[in-house]
Amino acid sequence: MENGKAKVTVDEIVSMKKKRKITMLTAYDFTTANICDKAGIDILLVGDSAGMVMLGYETTTPVTMEEMLLFCRAVSSASKRSMIVADMPFMSYQVDVTEAVRNACRFVKEAGVEAVKIEGGEEMVDTVKAIVRAGVPVMGHIGLKPQTAMLWQGYKVQGNSKEAALQLIEDAKALEKAGVYSIVLEKIVAEVAKIITDTVSVPTIGIGAGNVCDGQVLVIHDLLGLYDQIKPKFAKRYAELSEEMSKALKLFKDDVISEKFPAEENTFHMDKGEFDALMKELSHR
Ligand code: KIV
Repeated sequence: MENGKAKVTVDEIVSMKKKRKITMLTAYDFTTANICDKAGIDILLVGDSAGMVMLGYETTTPVTMEEMLLFCRAVSSASKRSMIVADMPFMSYQVDVTEAVRNACRFVKEAGVEAVKIEGGEEMVDTVKAIVRAGVPVMGHIGLKPQTAMLWQGYKVQGNSKEAALQLIEDAKALEKAGVYSIVLEKIVAEVAKIITDTVSVPTIGIGAGNVCDGQVLVIHDLLGLYDQIKPKFAKRYAELSEEMSKALKLFKDDVISEKFPAEENTFHMDKGEFDALMKELSHR
């Protein structure tokens, strides 16, 4: 599965468990997705975190199907190799199973993605089964569930008590049985993430769940240092691009004000003969 080869498949992701860690990043636009694809990232998640980092909402909850379809189209047209996963937004899969199947299929048919992700454990079993039966691979997501976190306990670390840990383990087993091909574990104590990873046969992909998972996912804006509103403890900033961007923007402003930009090399000129003729014409008016 090197760069330039065919698309990463569900079977390949599943067979990577315990062999090589899976890499997943969020992407929301053509240009970034293209860079991620060329860098060999296995899975690009068009996360509903788009609502926060692309649209400026306070949480992921308000994101709509139409907004997600637009981001997904942009990302899938950039990807030659990475598997594209659409995050199903809040209310697109909770109301009833038929609606969930229709919306999952819309992501495949209208936006060219290869799988969908939904948040939830045991309570989502019927929905997962129905979407998989319709032919769409499903990635599960348990632990912190950002779409509804604010309605319950907030953005707390998950699985910190025996009861909570047991529930997460049951959720993971139920999702596996229902047919998911992988499970995101978000903000779960590492001890429980390890038990889940050792228990289920499908890969776990962690975000704030320690290095025990079969893969890791980050929001690309966190990795690149582009989103300064929230800096999660679990995210490593590999670059500080918002600082770099601010520096570049200031240079641009200074250059325009001091007339250093555009320079000669950025400028187009009229053919000399045409210019002379134009000036002559204008002088007779
Ligand atoms: O929306 C998102 O970015 C996600 C990741 C945090 C897994 O669901």
